[in-house]
Amino acid sequence: MQSLASKLVPKAVEKLIPYQSARRIGGQGHLWLNANELEQPINYGDLSEKDNNHYNRYPDFLPHDTAEAYIEYCEQNSGKLNCEAVTVRGADEAIDLLIRTFCHPGKDQIIICPPTYGMYEFCADSFSVNTCKIPLLADFQLDVDQIKEQLPNSPLLFLCSPNNPTGNSIHEADIITLLEASKDSTLVVVDEAYIEFSSQQSALHLMHKYPHLIVIRTLSKAFGLAAIRCGFLLADSSVMTYINRLIAPYPIADPTAEIALKALSSNGLEVMHKQTNQLIQIREWFKAQLMLLDSVQHVFGSETNFVLIRFKDHLDTYQHLITQGIVTRNQAHEEILKDCVRITIGSKESMLETLNALKTLK
Ligand SMILES: Cc1ncc(COP(=O)(O)O)c(C=O)c1O
Repeated sequence: MQSLASKLVPKAVEKLIPYQSARRIGGQGHLWLNANELEQPINYGDLSEKDNNHYNRYPDFLPHDTAEAYIEYCEQNSGKLNCEAVTVRGADEAIDLLIRTFCHPGKDQIIICPPTYGMYEFCADSFSVNTCKIPLLADFQLDVDQIKEQLPNSPLLFLCSPNNPTGNSIHEADIITLLEASKDSTLVVVDEAYIEFSSQQSALHLMHKYPHLIVIRTLSKAFGLAAIRCGFLLADSSVMTYINRLIAPYPIADPTAEIALKALSSNGLEVMHKQTNQLIQIREWFKAQLMLLDSVQHVFGSETNFVLIRFKDHLDTYQHLITQGIVTRNQAHEEILKDCVRITIGSKESMLETLNALKTLK
């Protein structure tokens, strides 16, 4: 049976032969004179001997060990998976790749549910793809019926769970309803950048039944590795066939792959889980403290490493925090988030300083 991915993929992508980089072509030998690299590494002084001794060579064209380590990590929570993973330069690259792989510029539209992460629309715009916006309902859940109406015209639906900037998880029942309704029309992408902070299970286990589900992940949040730019796209092989045609020849720098592997080792995962639990405790304590403040109108529930707060006078609050050297994110440009500010959870000391600054607000 023809997969949905192969039905949707534009002819130009279907015909693409992946760029034949030297690493992809490979070969056997003892002199590697095929990639115009410097044969001997240069020692720049600060790098250790071990680090330095291979940076003259291009990295693996698709670093399988990081992808395999990531799947193993996912399987600890989601059980045996039958999907594939690719390592990308942050979840942002996954978003961009999906739009460039499955949308016809100037013709197709993606569906998003604002307020949500800004890169879906930005990437669509940058590739001349339209964005159909079906706003979240007042409780920040999906307007499932409205989304269903748009499915036949849209190769991609982006859901963000837990959602940035609202902080809540999308009901799994709604995701399943949409997966059922989209089987013949739309690849459903669930961006799980904040999943480690959530009490809801990942959508990954649904991939057995719904091969048109795609999950995006990152090491930038709970793993604390935003600087190395490392994310993962997990999907059925029918989807991955086309992603692999478009992906950059050397998507991941060697130092990134090395650090990612350390983070995904059993020691690395233990540290990450411990830190995540601590952060969740600080988040819940901070929320409770915020609710005691006069300036606060509402603190929204959070399944992430930030909280969304409605202040009585958000501009005053936001500016006041800036004058105290505390930089937060003003969300008031979205109608549904009028008077809202998003605050990332840091250490207990940082949150205490923030609370004290809020208390001095006149
Ligand atoms: C929902 C969501 N997805 C993706 C990203 C980007 O992640 P990365 O740093 O892996 O590109 C972010 C970053 O804030 C985000 O909030």
